Amino acid sequence: MTSAQDKQKQQAAEAAIEYVERGAVIGVGTGSTVNFFIDALAAMKNDIDAAVSSSEASTARLKQHGIEVIELNNVADLPVYVDGADEIDHHLRMVKGGGGALTREKIIAAVAKKFVCIADDSKLVKRLGGFPIPVEVIPMARSYVARQIVKLGGDPVWRQGFTTDNGNVILDIHNFDILNPVQLEEELNSIVGVVTNGLFADRGADIALLAGPDGITKKTR
Ligand code: A5P
Repeated sequence: MTSAQDKQKQQAAEAAIEYVERGAVIGVGTGSTVNFFIDALAAMKNDIDAAVSSSEASTARLKQHGIEVIELNNVADLPVYVDGADEIDHHLRMVKGGGGALTREKIIAAVAKKFVCIADDSKLVKRLGGFPIPVEVIPMARSYVARQIVKLGGDPVWRQGFTTDNGNVILDIHNFDILNPVQLEEELNSIVGVVTNGLFADRGADIALLAGPDGITKKTR
């Protein structure tokens, strides 16, 4: 049985199809909401050039649908990237990486002209940080990075048993009091050993399609 939340994720995902540019490469994120988007994208696979993918999981699903997946390095123009979020605020800044795909997601988001965030409206928050901030870390730097994060006021928890698609580890940071998400994103990135962090504040979404019981709310920034 599909839960009400799953139905909303599916609605948000299907609403994003109208932003897919025909004849162009589409950027595809990761997660349960994006899985619905990939399934909807299959119906127009002959209208797009190809996809670039932010994770091995999304690549596998795209390929199952017969959608070609190409290397980001071979893409000169990426008009749209569609991805979910763990939290999104009213400025369309996000926390991402609950699924551990944050680094590839952030790279594709940086390349794309337009970031379309799809989510059920439970993800909309007044202030980011209720969801722990994932930080991808080079394995040998894990303890050092954790100590530096404690100095910044966070409580890092090692996501044990999890390895990213890039062969790294994740620290999930709890209890951060996030007054300035852009500044914290920069501070975390400046710790040696950090690959990237799940705050998408400097480059947030351009459009958010948030599904609730009364349908889709579109937000732009
Ligand atoms: C993956 O690493 C994440 O950034 C996802 O985009 C995010 O966790 C949203 O996932 P769901 O759509 O499964 O909630």
